[in-house]
Amino acid sequence: MGTEAPIIVENVSYYFGRGSLRKQILFDISAEVGEGEIVILTGPSGSGKTTLLTMMGALRAAQDGSLRIFGQELLNARESQLVEVRRRIGYIFQSHNLFPALNVEQNVKMGVQLGDRKPAREENEDIRNVLDRVGMADHVRKRIDQLSGGQRQRVAIARALVAEPQIVLADEPTASLDKESGRDVANLIQELAREQGASVVLVTHDNRILDIADRILHLEDGRMMDLKEAVAIETSRMLHVLAEHDPGAHRTLLSFATALARVAHADRKLSHEEVDVIRKVLSETADLSPGEVEFVMTVAIDSTRSGQEESISTNLRRLSSNEKGRLIESLHAVAEADGEFTESERLEIDRIAEELGL
Ligand SMILES: Nc1ncnc2c1ncn2[C@@H]1O[C@H](COP(=O)(O)OP(=O)(O)OP(=O)(O)O)[C@@H](O)[C@H]1O
Ligand SMILES: [Mg+2]
Repeated sequence: MGTEAPIIVENVSYYFGRGSLRKQILFDISAEVGEGEIVILTGPSGSGKTTLLTMMGALRAAQDGSLRIFGQELLNARESQLVEVRRRIGYIFQSHNLFPALNVEQNVKMGVQLGDRKPAREENEDIRNVLDRVGMADHVRKRIDQLSGGQRQRVAIARALVAEPQIVLADEPTASLDKESGRDVANLIQELAREQGASVVLVTHDNRILDIADRILHLEDGRMMDLKEAVAIETSRMLHVLAEHDPGAHRTLLSFATALARVAHADRKLSHEEVDVIRKVLSETADLSPGEVEFVMTVAIDSTRSGQEESISTNLRRLSSNEKGRLIESLHAVAEADGEFTESERLEIDRIAEELGL
């Protein structure tokens, strides 16, 4: 039991409503979150993220499958067992659920009172410490309604973490914050969770904070989806939109990225300094916007490096022999698709096969 992952979800489905209005929301979800692991749960609005998160938090009853939290099965568990599980979890929600009439310290104290009680003096020390860690030590006596959105979210984090829970569940904790405060809040959750060895499941739409995750899970229409697939779909969807609405821009960005990749590729490496220079040149000479520069750089850099200074062909060689076979087979199929398999197509495919070491 002791080595079991703190969160284990197996074949969980969930339905809202009854009778003819009954609608399936989650489909046969399985997932595990290990000790100290930070997992981000993404997915479009309505895909079931909050539903799944509240089930993990023992805030919503499981209907079938198995949900084991700290080894406790939640399906058909008694209320007293659910309460016991909840006491060991820290919750951070978008609408932070703080008490507006209480001050910062009093709100964090509510979090202490949920965990295992300690002598009052130690508890007060814990409260001071955690408020210090979230940068709110100077605002201890302020009422919640006197704080900014970012400050409120910090207090909510302090309250969730003051009792050192082994699991932290956060639902869009950065949604109402500006870019910078969102980043700070994400970093803070990451730091504190690491210090305390807590497992974290964090739901977010905010692509800018994905880097704090050890692992990313993606939900689509209530089904767990492979991240690779989700990224591929999203990227091609966006490129398609761009091609439809602004074919010129689409052409420009892709040609820039390809050309840049080939140039950078020529000496098979791309240092940090070079990257900075290229960024500058792109925005000044090529008149690209900051977002466009980022896109072009990402595509170019991704195609030039897999480790630090390796080439595209190194990347290709990393494929398993099975994948190589599939790649060559599909290149043949593509070449034959127009009913004509030309000599130059054959040569190009042979060259690629050779690069693959086939
Ligand atoms: N109480 C409810 N009764 C009926 N349907 C519900 C209820 N709560 C949520 N749903 C439906 O379940 C689906 C999943 O909702 P959920 O809140 O889990 O999505 P989400 O991924 O968290 O979305 P968002 O990103 O917008 O927060 C949605 O289609 C939603 O309409
Ligand atoms: Mg939600």
